[in-house]
Amino acid sequence: MKILAIETSCDETAMAFVEATGVLKHPRFKVLENIVSSQIKIHRPFGGVVPNLAKREHIKNLPKIFKTLVARRKSLAPDFITVTVGPGLEPALWAGIEFAKALHTNVQSANRKARIALIGANHMEGHLYSNWLSPVGIKSKAQIPNAKSFPAIALVVSGGHTILLKMGSLTKWKKLGETRDDAAGEAFDKVAKMMGLPYPGGPEIQKLAEKGNPNAIPFPRPMLKAAKPPKVLSGAKDYRFDYEFSFSGLKTSVLYYLRDNPKAKKADVAASFQQAVLDVLIGKTIRAAREFGAKSILLSGGVAANKALRESLAFSAKRLAISFFVPPFEYNTDNAVMIAVAAYIRLLAKKKPYQLTAQSNLNL
Ligand code: KG4
Ligand code: ZN
Repeated sequence: MKILAIETSCDETAMAFVEATGVLKHPRFKVLENIVSSQIKIHRPFGGVVPNLAKREHIKNLPKIFKTLVARRKSLAPDFITVTVGPGLEPALWAGIEFAKALHTNVQSANRKARIALIGANHMEGHLYSNWLSPVGIKSKAQIPNAKSFPAIALVVSGGHTILLKMGSLTKWKKLGETRDDAAGEAFDKVAKMMGLPYPGGPEIQKLAEKGNPNAIPFPRPMLKAAKPPKVLSGAKDYRFDYEFSFSGLKTSVLYYLRDNPKAKKADVAASFQQAVLDVLIGKTIRAAREFGAKSILLSGGVAANKALRESLAFSAKRLAISFFVPPFEYNTDNAVMIAVAAYIRLLAKKKPYQLTAQSNLNL
């Protein structure tokens, strides 16, 4: 099946053309085209993404990207078109959905004999399933999770989400926990802003952290040791508390530290903050992997681009003889290839299709 996918949930306008084959036990993907147009420069002066500006840029970029795609592939005959319907910024999501609807009408009338479907996709399923991708042009190989990888523990960390899942199979999972306040990526972005670094903060903190000492400042590791459920939950067999995340207190600690230590070495602050986030993410993921006898650990989402996180989690998994998977760098941050993958897997699983309306709070 050839899939044309569109992604506009935040500040990347992305389109991809992907060939998908294989059954649910072993889906395979060949990335034919992958175009991502970033709006970072436009939002940077505001220190974050401005939803209506994002929408305006998506509307401007989508036809241009489509034109490039058509120019590169003389024949663009998708079996279906898919578009992200959530979660994300509502105006930004609508830009993609409206474009996909119009495009679908055009493509369908140009190929009257074919029945081309238009289906909605979940951005978070996209991040989760980006683990099933290999770099452009290469068919999925051994580094891709397969039936033997389950049960798996999946950590999905992005600018808007921090989710820990226990996966029984490719399409069945239980959410163990998620963030109660800021997402991991959001914490990186906010701390970077406090330190006068540009948006998005994740890559900036990473760069600075490489020159600093991660043990210089003992920032808190929020909820890492929350082994006992709080009184209200006692007696309840509720794992959720154990695997919940919270990063807003850590962010405040950094704020106070910077206020009280104006001469602090910025690289040490960045390195110590990053280490605190990593300790929590890795600590909980490894604990879950041990508790549930996981055969593999999957890491995805924008924060998965963090080199220290990838390397430390890979190392911890190896020590436990658990397989570790993380998508190639280009599929960590937002892209449309992962949207094609999510739509294909959902189609194979015969799960209910998503409605073609913006669903900003859609989740896993
Ligand atoms: O998945 P994504 O592109 O968008 C959302 O769905 O949110 O994730 C973006 C987030 C931003 O918060 C960004 O700062 C973070 O991922 N990020 C990183 C790195 N690269 C991107 N965080 C830490 N280290 C990085 N190298
Ligand atoms: Zn994302």
